[in-house]
Parts: sequence; structure tokens; C-alpha cells
Amino acid sequence: MLRLYFFISLMCLVKSDTDETCPSFTRLSFHSAVVGTGLNVKLMLYTRRNRTCAQVINSTVLGNLNVTKKTTFIIHGFRPTGSVPVWMEDLVQALLDVEDMNVVVVDWNRGATTVIYNHASSKTRKVAIVLKGFIDQMLVQGASLDDIYMIGVSLGAHIAGFVGKMYNGQLGRITGLDPAGPLFNGRPPEDRLDPGDAQFVDVIHSDIDALGYKEPLGNIDFYPNGGLDQPGCPKTILGGLRYFKCDHQRSVYLYLSSLRENCFITAYPCDSYRDYRNGKCINCGIPQKESCPLLGYYADNWKEYLKQKDPPMTKAFFDTAEEEPYCIYHYFVDIITWNKSIRRGSITIKLRDRDGTITESKINHEPAVFQKYHQVSLLARFNQDLDKVANISLVFSTGSVIGPKYKLRILRMKLRSLAHPERPQLCRYDLVLMENMEMVFQPILCPNLLM
Ligand SMILES: *[C@@H]1O[C@H](CO)[C@@H](O)[C@H](O)[C@H]1NC(C)=O
Ligand SMILES: *[C@@H]1O[C@H](CO)[C@@H](O)[C@H](O)[C@H]1NC(C)=O
Ligand SMILES: *[C@@H]1O[C@H](CO)[C@@H](O)[C@H](O)[C@H]1NC(C)=O
Ligand SMILES: *[C@@H]1O[C@H](CO)[C@@H](O)[C@H](O)[C@H]1NC(C)=O
Ligand SMILES: *[C@@H]1O[C@H](CO)[C@@H](O)[C@H](O)[C@H]1NC(C)=O
Repeated sequence: MLRLYFFISLMCLVKSDTDETCPSFTRLSFHSAVVGTGLNVKLMLYTRRNRTCAQVINSTVLGNLNVTKKTTFIIHGFRPTGSVPVWMEDLVQALLDVEDMNVVVVDWNRGATTVIYNHASSKTRKVAIVLKGFIDQMLVQGASLDDIYMIGVSLGAHIAGFVGKMYNGQLGRITGLDPAGPLFNGRPPEDRLDPGDAQFVDVIHSDIDALGYKEPLGNIDFYPNGGLDQPGCPKTILGGLRYFKCDHQRSVYLYLSSLRENCFITAYPCDSYRDYRNGKCINCGIPQKESCPLLGYYADNWKEYLKQKDPPMTKAFFDTAEEEPYCIYHYFVDIITWNKSIRRGSITIKLRDRDGTITESKINHEPAVFQKYHQVSLLARFNQDLDKVANISLVFSTGSVIGPKYKLRILRMKLRSLAHPERPQLCRYDLVLMENMEMVFQPILCPNLLM
């Protein structure tokens, strides 16, 4: 809550309405936020027929909404300045790019705009009732609940949950993008988003220590980078405004990235982030049967599998890069050491392809334990996926600056790609790593011992 307070104090003024030919998202000023706004829900329809110019619709006038198609509602959250969500336009267009559907922007800026979070939060059920009235009319016109999809951001995620409860969980799908935590944390299921609110509920948690909700709320709950601090976001208040909302908003940008399909973010079902980082959760619980769950729009690839689980819930972890498209590529580095004494340390590994592209991974979140003839499997995360690795470099470090410099004798190192298990595994035998000295070598193909 403290962060919210600072957030508000830092707000600058936003210009009021200007002349527009197409209806647009309600733009309010910071002044409105100070005096508070009464609730008014405006629904704006975008379709492939009319991608750039919205149509204002309501329960009596459905406009160009084609009830035989999928309908995606986008519901924003708390607006402490009255501004238009910066990601809204991109999200609408990206959804229309991937599928011919109706996209309905739920503009409740009048209501969400207030400096007092509790006031916005207290209007969430009223917004849900308006949406219920609208969807009822869609059903009368022949729509099916199966085709209704709600994407709720922050407070909007709980709004989607409230709508879902009124249909006893029969809505097709709800995606919660960093569902709001303050005033919702620890509430019973009827007072927040819950896995029973739709046929499939997927949630991305990107700011669990501040604005987001910590505990799982869906059938599948994704925790990018553990759900706490997102790479590339300012770590201190010196980062300005971004400090307050960067982690929270990252959930929206990760989702957007899934629609742009530059790469697919794979997540790993796991009990904890720590276990994921230690490489304990890479087979997705169902080895060889299915691919791992994907983050974002295509998260429903796990819907059928999750339905059979009891309870039908799972947490999934993954790390991301700092910027779009956020994907990172996982490899296992299997190391067998010879040394008699047990050593703890970290490994930095660099891959270089024939074109000279280099990608690096530091495996230093927790010291690896190297002991004689014992294989350790380290999970390495690279920003780039190099198809043809020409050489590999390794650095071993115990982290001590003073004291003796150690050597690590490696009997065998093996590099294998998780995303592409069919790729040949790369090996190298008998290496001695001097502490903090880079060792560069050309790997060879590992002999295939399975045959
Ligand atoms: C697009 O929307 C605008 C504004 O609502 C409307 O005037 C126009 O007729 C629409 N165009 C089509 C092709 O539906
Ligand atoms: C719905 O929109 C139409 C046209 O914009 C308007 O005339 C009508 O009063 C609205 N109905 C409701 C229930 O808001
Ligand atoms: C509505 O969508 C269906 C199938 O997606 C299509 O066959 C039909 O022509 C559409 N109706 C209108 C009025 O565009
Ligand atoms: C490992 O073995 C090498 C070679 O036998 C030895 O020189 C080195 O000190 C040992 N290193 C560690 C980390 O124990
Ligand atoms: C690394 O790869 C480059 C390009 O393939 C090659 O020229 C260089 O000799 C390699 N270095 C080592 C130590 O193998």
C-alpha cells in the first residue's frame, strides 16, 4: 500500500477529452482521480471488420458483434490517474491478429479512476453485474457461454471472476493478469477470482510482493521469474513511475508477447521457484505425453490434462528475458567431476555459434555441489537459442575473492537442449577448470549410449 501512495503522489496531469471521430476509451484527468468518479461502464467493440474504429455497444444494441464467434472481453483495473491503459490498443489488435473474434473493451474508467484504491475496488461487483446483463443479451441472441473469454487485469481479474460466478463457472475461459492483491489477499473464493469461475482459468502473477495476488487463483498459475521482481524493471524508486507498475504490468506484456508469436514461452509445473531453478521440474509432470504448458493465449493447451487432476490446479514457473519477446532457452549442463573433495561453486557457460553469436548463462542462484563421480545437472538459461554451437566456454567460481584458487576436474560435461530434445547432445571429456579462468573448447557429439 505504501507503494500505491507514492505512485499517486508522483502522478502528473493528463489532458482531458479532445475531439474524436471514433469513440475511444474514456480519458480522465488527475483532477477526476482526486475528486473521484461515479461508475459508468462503456463497452467498445472491435472486430476484423472494424479494427481501428470502435463501436459503442450495450445490452440493447449489439452492433457488429457476431454472436457465433468467440467474444473476448478486456477488463482493466484501478486507474489512479485516469489515463488510458497504455497496452490496451496493442492487446486489441494482437487478439484480432490471431483470431477472427469480437473484442469488447470494458471501459470502466469512470469508477476505476480515483486516488483511493478501496473506492475502485468497491465497484468491481457492480461492473460484473453490468457485464452479466450484457452477456445475458448475447445469449438471447444465440451466443454460447463456451465462446466467452475474459481477460482481466489486476482488479479486472476479480471482476471477471465475479461474472464467472454468476454463470456457475460455465464461461469458456478467464485469464487473470496479475490479479489485484491488496484487499483481496486471503479472501475466501466467493470474494475473488477462483478456479471454479470458468471452464478454464489461467493466471499470470508478476508482482506478488506488492500489487499482485500471491496465492494460486486458477487452474494454472504462472509465476514468471518466481512472481516477484521482473528483469528489466527498476529495483528502486529512482526508476521513477515505472518502479511502481513495471512488475505488475509485466503480466500484460508477457501475455501480449504470446499473441505476437515470435517465440513461445514454456513454463514448468513445479512446487516452487527454487525447485524449478534447480532443474527439478523439467518433464512437465507427464513425460513424453504432452508438451509443457505455454504462457498466455495458448495456455489452454493444458486444459484437458488439468481437468483430470484433483484438484485441477497447478503452479508453473519459468524465467524470462528483460524485453520482448521475453523467451529464454533452457539447457541442461550435466557435469561429472573427478575431485576427491566436495566443492561448491557456480558455473558460467557461454555458447558461440559459427557466426560468432554469443549467449551466456550464469548458474549462480545456489552453489552447485561437485563431488567425485557424481553427476550434477545444472539448468542453464540463455537469451538466445543457438542451433549450431561451435564452441563452449566454462568458468568455475567458488565465489571467494581471497583464499586459495581451486581447480575443478571435469570427467565429462554434456549440454542438452530442453526445448529441442531431438538436437544432438554436445559433450567434452576431461577438462580442468582453473577457478575464475575462462576455458574455451569445441564440443563433440556425445555417443548415443541409449541405443
Ligand atoms: C466502424 O465503426 C464506426 C464507428 O462506430 C462506424 O461508423 C462504421 O460504420 C463502422 N464500419 C463498419 C464497416 O462496420
Ligand atoms: C444503448 O445504446 C443506444 C445507442 O447508442 C442508446 O440509444 C440506448 O439508450 C442504450 N441503452 C442502454 C440500456 O444503455
Ligand atoms: C458471423 O460469423 C459466422 C461464422 O463465424 C459467419 O458465417 C457469418 O457470416 C457472420 N455473420 C455476419 C453478419 O457477419
Ligand atoms: C581437483 O583436482 C585437481 C586435480 O587433481 C586438484 O588440483 C584440485 O585442487 C582439485 N580441486 C578442487 C576444487 O578440489
Ligand atoms: C571458437 O570458434 C571459432 C569459430 O568457429 C574458432 O575460430 C575458434 O578457434 C574457436 N575457439 C576454440 C578455443 O576452439
